[in-house]
Amino acid sequence: MSLDEENFDTLLHETRKFPPHPSFRQQATVSSADLYHQAAANGEAFWAEQARELTWSKPFTEILAWDPPHARWFYDGELNAATNTVDRHRQGATKNKVALIWEGEPGDQVVLTYDMLGREVDRAAQMLTALGVQPDDRITLYLPMIPELVIAMLAAAKVGAIHSIVFGGFSAEALRERINDAGSRLVITADAGWRRGKTVPLKANTDAALTGCPQVEQVVVVERVGQIAGLNMIPGRDRWWHQAMAEASTAPFAPVPRHAEDILFTLYTSGTTGKPKGIVHSTAGYLTGANTSCRLVFDLKPEDVYFCTADIGWITGHTYVVYGPLSCGATVVMYEGAPDWPDRDRYWALIERYGVTVLYTAPTSIRTFMKWGPELPGRHRLDSLRLLGTVGEPINPEAWMWYYEVIGGARCPIVDTWWQTETGAAMISPLPGVTDLKPGSASVPVPGIFADVVDTHGHSVPPGGAGYLVLTRPWPSMLRTIWGDDQRYQDTYWNRFPGRYFTGDGAHRDEDGYYWILGRVDDVMNISGHRIGTMEVESALVDDHRVAESAVIGRQHDLKGQAISAFVTLKDGIEGTPELVTALKQHVADKIGPMARPEEIFFTAELPKTRSGKIMRRLLRDVAEGRALGDTTTLADPTVVEALKQQYEAQDPD
Ligand code: WTA
Repeated sequence: MSLDEENFDTLLHETRKFPPHPSFRQQATVSSADLYHQAAANGEAFWAEQARELTWSKPFTEILAWDPPHARWFYDGELNAATNTVDRHRQGATKNKVALIWEGEPGDQVVLTYDMLGREVDRAAQMLTALGVQPDDRITLYLPMIPELVIAMLAAAKVGAIHSIVFGGFSAEALRERINDAGSRLVITADAGWRRGKTVPLKANTDAALTGCPQVEQVVVVERVGQIAGLNMIPGRDRWWHQAMAEASTAPFAPVPRHAEDILFTLYTSGTTGKPKGIVHSTAGYLTGANTSCRLVFDLKPEDVYFCTADIGWITGHTYVVYGPLSCGATVVMYEGAPDWPDRDRYWALIERYGVTVLYTAPTSIRTFMKWGPELPGRHRLDSLRLLGTVGEPINPEAWMWYYEVIGGARCPIVDTWWQTETGAAMISPLPGVTDLKPGSASVPVPGIFADVVDTHGHSVPPGGAGYLVLTRPWPSMLRTIWGDDQRYQDTYWNRFPGRYFTGDGAHRDEDGYYWILGRVDDVMNISGHRIGTMEVESALVDDHRVAESAVIGRQHDLKGQAISAFVTLKDGIEGTPELVTALKQHVADKIGPMARPEEIFFTAELPKTRSGKIMRRLLRDVAEGRALGDTTTLADPTVVEALKQQYEAQDPD
């Protein structure tokens, strides 16, 4: 296990504490610690009460069946996710309430009330039905951050289909792998998306992906950018979204009732092998987690204007742009593009323009805003904000304080929410009206969630210690399996510490029981809050015919949290030129997506290996972070890493 020692030291010296402001506490949905005690006394009763906040077409009577590691929650109930996010707000006073305020990167806007959104979803559900979509069919969505993405996912849910969203930054190859793994026959994409004033060629990528997806029969294309030269619409396969929508019935669409445990969606995430995992989420349990955490952690109320900056292509966007806030009947602000377009104050302009009350973003963004300076937020009125959130990676206390003071005016609590694609919803986070905040700590598990920090033998580590973070009881929004690979589900999450869910993160727990997340302890990197497996990047590198071997690590980076350092051994006779560095970086970006482009590539004659041939990444991390080398006694040839260190320091890319 590798725990980040430097971070750890900073965290241990962090002693500031911020109790909830009385003015926040007064209006908070949860303002007393009783809820923690109730949930601790009877977790299942707590979750059943939360699940009753959803709208059920057939109410559940059973709460939990736990056959480790498989859980079923509320399993005799029936419901539909589109009903819960949209239709239930289409009656009474909320019918004409704004559900979605969308702003495109060029500045165009779409505002949809719950009723308008509901009519769009119905129409799209009619369209999907006309295209032959059946319950449990998988639909891959490869779209920019546009309203059609929300409409398509909710329409899929309404007809009982399973959506599999692929982030628009992924390459054609990554898209192909995910379409094939899911077995989707329908793909919904767009001509292109906007990013920093340039277009991202989503349809062209889809075409390239589909050269290897024989089962895909239909492609629906949203016209987002227009006038894309050479856009190739294949007759019989491709159709325009606006035409298919125009042809679809305008009749209301009756939601297809789903069993609680039916799959709502799959979402691919990186693991320790090259092959991404299709994380499977259920309908009722997932929605319970999304809805409950929005009410309790984000304190969401119908009058909130809520802005989560995540892309819907990641779990944060699924849960906290779409399912959570809409299920609460909030108003969601959704922005298509980059934070620095056309200027570096775009988020602050959005907050001022729409009166955003709750902002949820990532530490990597906060550190970037810090670097850009306080003048940019200073140009805008941000006093509508009442609550801030962060997610994706540990937040350093300095960035926390900046966020608190400069963005929140020392008035807004910050909820540092620890969770994962697999957990579906926030697991460790303050309740803003109750929990004292400590900058840099995600604080304590939310009510109904039970965590522990354990050593390699699975024994609980006493307060003040560090170890592996585990969750000790099943929870409603937990992943149900890995699509098509239940064995991998068991091996990855449950076999390490039987009966407990292994998160892959290290954590320190202080004397007050607060959790300080120390980052991944497996071969998964966290680059600007994006999960990327070292193996994925290594496979992309060795895919180049000049590369013999590679080892990839995430090294500490001031802005990104981690940056990708690649150590590459070239085949005999190949010279490690700067041109080759550029070409290999590009190759990785083409194979996976731009977010996986290595920050630096370092050529070396040999990689440090154990006698059994395992690459010692821990030592490479020591090299890249300029630390004294750790234990090298298990190396086959200890001189390799010493030589590497000297060579690295001589050519330090920084
Ligand atoms: C990391 C994103 C520290 C962690 C929701 C986890 C965090 C991985 C935090 C999951 C946080 C997420 N503090 N680390 N508040 N939130 N992480 O699946 O390493 O994209 O395992 O889900 O991000 O990333 P994923």
